[in-house]
Amino acid sequence: MSKSNTGNSSQLAHLVRRFFASLGQRSPDPSDVVWVKETLLQAEFELWEKMSPPDQRHSIAVAQMARSELPNDVTTMRAGLLHDIGKIGVPSGLITRVAAAISKPLATEDRVNRWSQGKGPLASLGAFMSYPQLGASMLREVGSDDFTVMWATEHHLPSTEWTVERTRAEVLQRADQFAV
Ligand SMILES: [Fe+2]
Ligand SMILES: [Fe+2]
Repeated sequence: MSKSNTGNSSQLAHLVRRFFASLGQRSPDPSDVVWVKETLLQAEFELWEKMSPPDQRHSIAVAQMARSELPNDVTTMRAGLLHDIGKIGVPSGLITRVAAAISKPLATEDRVNRWSQGKGPLASLGAFMSYPQLGASMLREVGSDDFTVMWATEHHLPSTEWTVERTRAEVLQRADQFAV
């Protein structure tokens, strides 16, 4: 199997696991929420609280996996907790999420921009798929550090296109793939 096939199939497995996890509305453990509050800036925590329970649980799982590899690196933990924050500002119903997962290979930046400017279901899909950029601007506004802002923008990009510090990014990308 070629490297890109391996990448696609592990990404698909990830999407399937995330899809089933996203059906459960269970809130995160209160002790984890206390940890999130201690880890984030106050303004970041106020954004984080707006995420859906499954997205909150996913963000905690990513940040805690990253913490096990880089134990004292608060920046990496914050970036893990906030990488998907843009989802709070876009339509993200189940159908949109499934459509986004299926159409991801077709979604060039140009197409996503075109879709978001149109009307109807493609507009919701385009808006949903542009959540990394939206998240980055929300984080910039509340004063997150540069790495956190840039990881929100770049976390779906292939590693060849990253501009961020690679050690942190590799840890976070691995965690994002395995954390449901
Ligand atoms: Fe994401
Ligand atoms: Fe994620």
